Amino acid sequence: MEDKVKLSFDGKDFEFPVLKGSENEKAFDVSELRKKTGLVTLDYGYLNTGSTKSAITFVDGENGILRYRGYAIEDLAEKATFPEVAWLLIYGELPTEAQLMRFRTMLTENALIHENLLHFFREMPPSAHPMGILSSIVNAVGLFTPRFYDDDNKADVFDLTTVGLISKIRTIAAFTYKASIGEPFVYPEAERSYCSNFLNMMFSSKAKPYNPDPIMEKALNTLLIVHADHEQNCSTSTVRMVGSSQASLYASICAGICALWGPLHGGANQAVLETLLRIQQSGMTVQQVMEKAKDKNDPFRLSGFGHRVYKSYDPRAKVLKKLMHQVFEREHEHDPLLDIATELEERALKDDYFIERKLYPNVDFYSGILYRAMGIPTNMLTVMFAIGRLPGWIAHWKEMHDDPCSKINRPRQIYTGEVLRPWVDRKDR
Ligand code: CMC
Repeated sequence: MEDKVKLSFDGKDFEFPVLKGSENEKAFDVSELRKKTGLVTLDYGYLNTGSTKSAITFVDGENGILRYRGYAIEDLAEKATFPEVAWLLIYGELPTEAQLMRFRTMLTENALIHENLLHFFREMPPSAHPMGILSSIVNAVGLFTPRFYDDDNKADVFDLTTVGLISKIRTIAAFTYKASIGEPFVYPEAERSYCSNFLNMMFSSKAKPYNPDPIMEKALNTLLIVHADHEQNCSTSTVRMVGSSQASLYASICAGICALWGPLHGGANQAVLETLLRIQQSGMTVQQVMEKAKDKNDPFRLSGFGHRVYKSYDPRAKVLKKLMHQVFEREHEHDPLLDIATELEERALKDDYFIERKLYPNVDFYSGILYRAMGIPTNMLTVMFAIGRLPGWIAHWKEMHDDPCSKINRPRQIYTGEVLRPWVDRKDR
């Protein structure tokens, strides 16, 4: 393989080095392009642009492969706990027993949020979307914490902020739900696991204590793991973008949550469930919904299908599909939305439109049905995605800060507006 790319422009020849990643993916380095040629690149939506080198997550979209720090998602989903995966992503190795115990203790000790923040939950309008509340309160939590990275002892501050965020995000999510249904908050309990604590805060009440449910706790653990990172996606790139200005971790995560909210990204899980409910309630057939998704004059898209990187079955969706069947078999329950989703998938996988465009179910297609089985309301589905994705965001923020090559992210543009023109007096405009 050649180790240079040759470019001819304006009668001159230029060479740019070719880089190779550890899984042999190739890129050519254009960091000297403008200096050498006067040109910039234009790449809407970054279809061809690598924004960084990263050692955290590997995705092979053609072959449906996802690995965190070299470990297959299928192994992690089956064998790991979510705190273990969070540690792996952030610190690069699986934690030892002692490291994990310490991490768990710190998660327990840092689960509470400042009491002054509680009025925030109660005073939000009932229609406020939980993602808006989550992003606001994560940012507000930062205001109650010493300024990040101003401290001399950087590693300690980072560790504490990290564990605090991973623990508190559960509390914030559960308090948001309790406030929305007008019930008192249920506080975290030291002896519970990460997932059990969350489900207890969500579903315990004076009238009916939460009955620990190992199947649902295991399912939640798996869901959080498959969402934990996905390399340079929209929200992670946002976290890196905001963090590149040396904004705090809280501010960067707050921005990441806002980016995740959109229906083309994490918000797709809410949109999938709304589509399935629409089919169930409106009498629209699965085929009619598919025709609507294929109609170029209709902005509607079939949420839960398609992906920028995966051009084969999303490995996360495979894990969740298997998990869903396990949950429903063992619970002996039936959700009619599962039948609709199954029919939708079967038809889409045989449909020329979806085949030609390589549109397969993505992680958001089945996650909503699983969360629904746990009792999570539809408008909180993207919050669940955010809880899972948080360790990935933190890992990328840390990697960027630790990388001596990092610079403030500041893309160029091709200006297409007016050229210089004379000022016009107001009366003449
Ligand atoms: N329904 C109908 N048509 C679709 C869909 C869909 N879900 N997804 C892509 N297409 C079509 C699109 O119209 C285009 O057709 P054409 O070539 O005729 O113009 C073609 O497929 C390529 O799509 P694209 O929009 O150029 O692809 P993209 O890489 O820019 O977008 C995507 C990726 C995920 C935004 C898109 O597939 C989509 O909107 N999917 C639905 C939303 C969704 O499920 N998002 C969650 C993604 S997974 C979780 C996450 O990480 O965020």
